[in-house]
Amino acid sequence: MSTELEHWLYTLEDGVLTIAVNRPQVLNALNVQVIDELDRILDDAAQNTSIHVLILTGSGERAFVAGADIAQMQKMDVLQARTFAQKGSRTFTKLQRLPKPSIAAVQGYALGGGCELALCCDIRIAADTAQFGQPEVNLGIIPGFGGTQRLTRLVGIGAAKELLFTGDRIDAQRAFAIGLVNRVTEPAELMPTARRIAKQISAKSAYSIALCKQAVDEGISMDLDRALLYETELFSLSFGSPDQREGMTAFLEKRKPNFN
Ligand code: COA
Repeated sequence: MSTELEHWLYTLEDGVLTIAVNRPQVLNALNVQVIDELDRILDDAAQNTSIHVLILTGSGERAFVAGADIAQMQKMDVLQARTFAQKGSRTFTKLQRLPKPSIAAVQGYALGGGCELALCCDIRIAADTAQFGQPEVNLGIIPGFGGTQRLTRLVGIGAAKELLFTGDRIDAQRAFAIGLVNRVTEPAELMPTARRIAKQISAKSAYSIALCKQAVDEGISMDLDRALLYETELFSLSFGSPDQREGMTAFLEKRKPNFN
């Protein structure tokens, strides 16, 4: 990582970059500096060919991220709030569109901007201590980093509106039941599970993974006929990569593929 970081911890191992918001004294609340640093991490991660998969988590056991920093937001006027939301939204979208897969490993509170951050990842794994929610209505505001949009697209209009309107927190099992998380683990198994999945993905063709991600994320906003045509184009593109030769040759030679 070429960048100096004050609010994030990171490790890079076997192609898996693990980053953790590190403001445990405020339950990892997101202020402008945290978002700026995340933006730089994502630029680095996109460029760095030794990074195949990103795991995003929070430091400490109590929280993934307990939301945007209320102390920083409390004094904002309309224009400052707009600038803040534009910045957060741009960075969160950068995470969602990173041409590499990302996994949110969620322990404790994932509220407001924390829930929205997890929503930008491709896969969400939760410890059974996790609590999700969009409590913005309790503060007299609404989500500003994509919560009304990404949550709705992931869990559907009914479940999203219930969370958005009540501001209630839901536990990991309920989050699993509505499709907000992919799996629930014991707290001690959270990071090992995230790493296991990350390593499994990291061993695949990075080009295939990037094309799969692009096909799903772009295709979802198209009608089915156009989306299927889009898939056909990406499928044919995958035959332009050395990974296609290697993957198919390895299969026919009854050995494991060795992707670059
Ligand atoms: N922004 C800024 N500070 C926050 C914060 C946030 N989103 N969430 C927690 N903190 C701070 C608290 O102010 C407190 O600081 P203090 O020790 O200086 O008083 C510290 O983190 C610990 O939080 P506390 O409220 O004492 O812990 P708790 O266990 O009683 O409650 C929560 C935990 C998460 C339920 C509660 O902190 C909370 O509701 N946070 C706000 C969640 C939210 O509305 N997020 C959306 C923001 S848009």
